[in-house]
Amino acid sequence: MFQHVEFYPGDPILSLVETFQADKRPEKVNLGIGIYLDEAGRLPVLSSVRTAEVARAAVAQPRSYLPMEGLEAFRHGVQRLLFGAEHPALQEGRIATIQTLGGSGALKIGADFLARWFPDAKVYVSDPTWDNHKGIFQGAGFEVGVYPYYDPATGGLKFDEMLAFFAALPRNSVLVLHPCCHNPTGVDLDCGQWDKVLEVIRANGLIPFMDIAYQGFGDGFEQDAYAVRRAAEIGLPLFVANSFSKNLSLYGERIGGLSVVCPTRHEAELVFGQLKFGVRRIYSSPPAHGAFVAAAVMDTPELFAGWQEEVTQMRERIKAMRQRLFDELGRKLPEGDFSYFLKQRGMFGYTGFSPEQVRRLQEGFAVYLLVSGRMCVAGLNESNVGYVADAFAEVWRQ
Ligand code: LMR
Repeated sequence: MFQHVEFYPGDPILSLVETFQADKRPEKVNLGIGIYLDEAGRLPVLSSVRTAEVARAAVAQPRSYLPMEGLEAFRHGVQRLLFGAEHPALQEGRIATIQTLGGSGALKIGADFLARWFPDAKVYVSDPTWDNHKGIFQGAGFEVGVYPYYDPATGGLKFDEMLAFFAALPRNSVLVLHPCCHNPTGVDLDCGQWDKVLEVIRANGLIPFMDIAYQGFGDGFEQDAYAVRRAAEIGLPLFVANSFSKNLSLYGERIGGLSVVCPTRHEAELVFGQLKFGVRRIYSSPPAHGAFVAAAVMDTPELFAGWQEEVTQMRERIKAMRQRLFDELGRKLPEGDFSYFLKQRGMFGYTGFSPEQVRRLQEGFAVYLLVSGRMCVAGLNESNVGYVADAFAEVWRQ
């Protein structure tokens, strides 16, 4: 019956977690998947989250369905977090926001919407990008191309090439953009560069689809949302997929949002209806727990302030680990230039390791990176950073 079913070779990120878990070597270090671990190597339970959960568990809650679009308080919280409470687009009712199954769910619902209403569009992702971007948009039926982004020669951006590429695209081309903490390279645009990119997008009638999965991990919640807010401010139609997996450490709750900024309130209502329809056809309505927790954290001033502080601590710990790795490598390989570790933002470091070097790190040292050379800096801590630096130095010398 199923002989003709194609073999699935696995996912470059999620299947690596399975390989890591099966590895019996005690010294193993997981720098593959983008998950924040604390100094003790544990997945943190944020105290803002814990407080909200305890309060919710104290009262017997009936477990009804959420509406197709998700929890209203959560959706409003997402809008404030992304755009700022006073943003004109928000005040004018021009933003349609639904709750989604994490950031991936937001991308999928947005991709399906675009495939239905802009069937002739082509989608472009950065070169390189998060492994699943291509898959999600191809899965929705799009042809997916790449735009110039990372420059391996400088460890920076191919900014001029990217801008020229955008300027030559046909109207309604969809651009998948990372407003902060670019995944996988950690190389971000500054505000001036965003202004230029958004101007080209406007002049050329392109459709920006921003994927912001790491808000708070770059420079702070407000700063990391610069591109999102600016795009909405200059009147661009805009799709934003956001996630609370990392910044609320609620990975398994699958909690995120999709926001579509529209030219008018009326269009926002039309879009909102079609997003609900999209949800209904796939999973009917989203799960409730993560939404109640996230909404409580965003709606309660003390919890909100505590959460901001907790994210600041996570961000600072990652930066400290970047510095530690840089220092260790500088001592072990004084001839090398590792300053890129300090310049990159967010959870990821783009090491430049070849697939063969990544294989040697995994087989020889039980240090797990993605085959692209991406490492999750948030998997480092005081106990393993020396070991990881030794392994890196060894493989670089070979
Ligand atoms: C990652 O890039 O490692 C994370 O976003 C997890 C995932 O789903 O790939």
